[in-house]
Amino acid sequence: MSEGEEKKDVIIAKVLRFDPATDEAPHFQTYEVPKYEVGRQTVSKVLEYIFENIDPSLSYYHTCNRGICNGCVAMINSKAELMCMTESPHEVTIEPVPHHRVIRDLVVVPEDEDRPRRRIMERSGKSKYL
Ligand code: FES
Repeated sequence: MSEGEEKKDVIIAKVLRFDPATDEAPHFQTYEVPKYEVGRQTVSKVLEYIFENIDPSLSYYHTCNRGICNGCVAMINSKAELMCMTESPHEVTIEPVPHHRVIRDLVVVPEDEDRPRRRIMERSGKSKYL
């Protein structure tokens, strides 16, 4: 493949990472995830692949996975969307929603809440139960 040529068989996922306990500031981390040959590959599936195969320290919401609970809302290419319902484009930037406190990576709580609900921490590499 020549330089500048796009790799069609992967999704380039740029994820905003931040652990308030250890990081001074948020930073982007880029991952390459194999693209599905058939079927719909949502942003949640991209994160799941990263968590299970590349980086188990990644934290994100993984609850109903059906567009019901609204727990997985994130900024996907600068637009607030549900990760479990949004098909991932070839290049995707995933950030936490604004005006929320970041617990870790993509896990957030509204500014006025102390702690996330227990079930939303299922995909935290750090702890199941913050
Ligand atoms: S995980 Fe419930 S809406 Fe996406």
